Amino acid sequence: MIKAAVIGATGFTGALLARILQAHPEAEPAVLTSSSFAGRRVDEVFPEIRDETEYLAYEPAIVSEMDVAFVCYPHTQAHPVVAELRERGVRVVDLSADFRLPAEDYPAWYGFQHPRPDLVQEAVYGLPERYRENIRGADIVANPGCFPTGMLLAVLPLAGWLGLDLVVADSKSGVSGAGKTPSAKTHFSAVHDNFRSYTEIGHRHVAEMIGELGRAAGGEIPVSFTPHLLPVDRGILSTVYCRPRAGAEMPDEAALRARYQDFYQGEPFVEVREHAPALSEVQYTNYCRVAPLVDRQAGIIKVVSAIDNLVKGASGQAVQNMNLMFGLPEALGLEGRL
Ligand SMILES: NC(=O)c1ccc[n+]([C@@H]2O[C@H](COP(=O)([O-])OP(=O)(O)OC[C@H]3O[C@@H](n4cnc5c(N)ncnc54)[C@H](OP(=O)(O)O)[C@@H]3O)[C@@H](O)[C@H]2O)c1
Repeated sequence: MIKAAVIGATGFTGALLARILQAHPEAEPAVLTSSSFAGRRVDEVFPEIRDETEYLAYEPAIVSEMDVAFVCYPHTQAHPVVAELRERGVRVVDLSADFRLPAEDYPAWYGFQHPRPDLVQEAVYGLPERYRENIRGADIVANPGCFPTGMLLAVLPLAGWLGLDLVVADSKSGVSGAGKTPSAKTHFSAVHDNFRSYTEIGHRHVAEMIGELGRAAGGEIPVSFTPHLLPVDRGILSTVYCRPRAGAEMPDEAALRARYQDFYQGEPFVEVREHAPALSEVQYTNYCRVAPLVDRQAGIIKVVSAIDNLVKGASGQAVQNMNLMFGLPEALGLEGRL
């Protein structure tokens, strides 16, 4: 049995991770930490969960016997914990953004100088569909952001296949993407029966999208990204507009779909669809559904993708990464509704 710690286990992603691990046949959530609820039991904090485990205050000593730890802290709070865990030889899946970018990009995108460029260098970007082999041997996996997961799975089959000169990602997310502490803009009264865009220019996830897409394409492709807040709890639906370079030959829809089917052949969690998916098809699952479409009149390839932000966009993908790191079947404990 793999002994796992969830650090920050009462947040949205941490609580879901604890639940997924509890039902996992080869792993157990042996330590759950919380600073706000230390000493309280899971079933006191979440009455709907039958679990008498007590939350512990985080300190490095309590996790040193663990095989793996999932760090579910906000960005900038996660990297000191990851460093402490690595000093004790614990393998880590970090759900924050603290290890997703090259160290030199942190001042511009996250406003801080990364104190551990050596660990950033060691970390593997945890998108299994692209880095499966590197994840198997990794000691630090940087779990991707939720928006980049949906966007990259929509576009990666095109990178290196069709020259692109612009990608525009228009994504709509459920409110759980913002974590458990409501703000004036994510409060029920602001979100219910409403719809809005936010951080239209310079959202931090753009750095991840440009970096990963550029690496896959062998050259940088400009990305314009606009997130929107849907009055729903879970899920991200992205419509991604991809403009081929001038002179590139547009594939027909059958060739395009064949490319996607080939690219995702054998993938346990990506399903290529003929028709654009709805959020309800993926909510509470680790699946991503993508539908590539040809808009010949506009000279654009339009790809619609749908994921659950908390599952494929966070905790489910984190367990998929753990399965790879420990040589388990990749889909173990992740099939069906989570
Ligand atoms: N929500 C999503 O859809 C999603 C998707 C992908 C990635 N992520 C990333 O995953 C991480 C966790 O996200 P989440 O949605 O689970 O967040 P959350 O619901 O706000 O939970 C974060 C947890 O971290 C702990 N924490 C420790 N230091 C903190 C601090 N200084 N400020 C606030 N909380 C602190 C808190 O637990 P205690 O006080 O009990 O210790 C809190 O419950 C974030 O880095 C987020 O960007 C989230």
